[in-house]
Amino acid sequence: MHQYVKDFSGQVDQKVTVKGWVANKRESKTNIFIVFRDGTGYTQCVVSLDTVGEAQFDIAKSFTQESSVILNGTVVADERQIGGYELQVDSLELVHLSKEYPISNKAHGVRFLSDNRHLWLRSKRQWAIMRIRNEIIMAIHEFFQERDFVQMDAPIFTGSACEGTTDLFETDYFGNPAYLSQSGQLYGEAMAMAQGLIYTFGPTFRAEKSDTPRHLAEFWMIEPEMAFYTNEMNMDLIETFIKHVINRVLKNRKIELDAIGRDVSKLETVNQEFPRVAYVDAVKILRGEQEVNGKNAITLQEEDLAAAKAGIEEKTADIAEREAIIKGGVKKGVRKFNEGKILEQRQEIEVLKEKVRNIPKWIESAKNFVDGEDFGGSDETVLTRAFAAPVMVYNWPAAIKSFYMKEVDGDPNYVKGVDLLAPEGFGEIIGGSERETSLDVLVRKIHEHKLDMNDFEWYLDLRRFGSVPHSGFGLGLARIVRWVCNLDHVRETVPFPRRYGTIRP
Ligand code: 4AD
Ligand code: MG
Repeated sequence: MHQYVKDFSGQVDQKVTVKGWVANKRESKTNIFIVFRDGTGYTQCVVSLDTVGEAQFDIAKSFTQESSVILNGTVVADERQIGGYELQVDSLELVHLSKEYPISNKAHGVRFLSDNRHLWLRSKRQWAIMRIRNEIIMAIHEFFQERDFVQMDAPIFTGSACEGTTDLFETDYFGNPAYLSQSGQLYGEAMAMAQGLIYTFGPTFRAEKSDTPRHLAEFWMIEPEMAFYTNEMNMDLIETFIKHVINRVLKNRKIELDAIGRDVSKLETVNQEFPRVAYVDAVKILRGEQEVNGKNAITLQEEDLAAAKAGIEEKTADIAEREAIIKGGVKKGVRKFNEGKILEQRQEIEVLKEKVRNIPKWIESAKNFVDGEDFGGSDETVLTRAFAAPVMVYNWPAAIKSFYMKEVDGDPNYVKGVDLLAPEGFGEIIGGSERETSLDVLVRKIHEHKLDMNDFEWYLDLRRFGSVPHSGFGLGLARIVRWVCNLDHVRETVPFPRRYGTIRP
């Protein structure tokens, strides 16, 4: 048996054997410092000539980035080191010498990294994201299992659309068309009538040609469905659920959140009460006609725009200053330090420039938002900016929502849907609703949505035999991972993303 880096805290001053890869290496005449990773963590390993002798020292010298190695040594506590420990190596073994590993520790373009996703996954940032994703998955199961929800699987091949016919992937199913599931919900409703409380956790597919930072063609969705739940109870559950998931990640994934530089105070806001805003009020807030605790959504954008412009000026001035220092002639260390700072600030300026380009467009779009339409990505950004915690928008115009949502009592132009919008501009991560129970209304809606009644006969049976009020929602796993990890793009939320235009690797 060998040991794992994650267990070093219990192995101080003990002899261990670790097996893994060389993430990085630097050397002096008598010492080689290896940043070693084994999947469970990262640690510095010191190979010293005095201890291992010349032959082994030469082997360590030959180690390249991503070579696989076995190291035997003693764990020592050292606060200054990554993770707080260091391995002092006694002996070592090369398992496989990696040749010219294409991904260096320098910056690479997104395209290059995406084409090398199979290797990119090994980088520290991606490692951390995947472990946070895993924690989110465990937290989701924990939450529902603790509450006696039964996990059941909806089929992936389906005969019909759940969320509308425009974005279905068609496949050949024994000579007949079948579609990859957009959502397990309709089946979830049938399962809830059998079990009371259920949730699905499976892949879903959307063929929309959306090349945006929030759209995947294949993504995992978690869809609880609850018999005898109103939309108010649905919203209560959504709120407790998200609080549970985020708090578990905050508790168990400190190292990973730190590795990706996540400002966790932004996530801790989930412990506040989630504001619940009716669609009609959300529209007013978005247009700047209604304030949120004295804050105006449009004014906030104007302030952000001014701040971005000031930031660009400040950073440009700082770069000029550092360039002057370098020009003046300085020691290598000082030059390197300043060059690093310049590079960092150039990247930050790019982000700010993007904001300066976008915000005026967002403001225009928000001010001119047409009541009754669906919020676009930028509208969600503007709206959520006025709140620190996630926001629930409920009672949506019927025209823009799915056929199965229950009409608001006495106002059939609105339905009891709810979207949960994550803060910091991340936007929709959950969509849900109370389900229509009236057979007549459903039949009318199926016609209105131009869906084929034959496909829904079985679904209508749920309203014929012991129909009950019920509600549910769908959480997009990629969306919550993106928010928790503060990622620019969903492409980093899944090991091998499938999105518009991308199928390899
Ligand atoms: O809002 P949506 O379309 O709702 C449903 O599918 C319902 N049937 C859910 C239910 O009530 N059981 O999708 C739910 C969530 C969205 O809020 C979003 O998080 C995610 O799924 N999602 C996507 N994630 C990544 N890429 C896409 N193209 C997504 N489309 C939806
Ligand atoms: Mg939605």
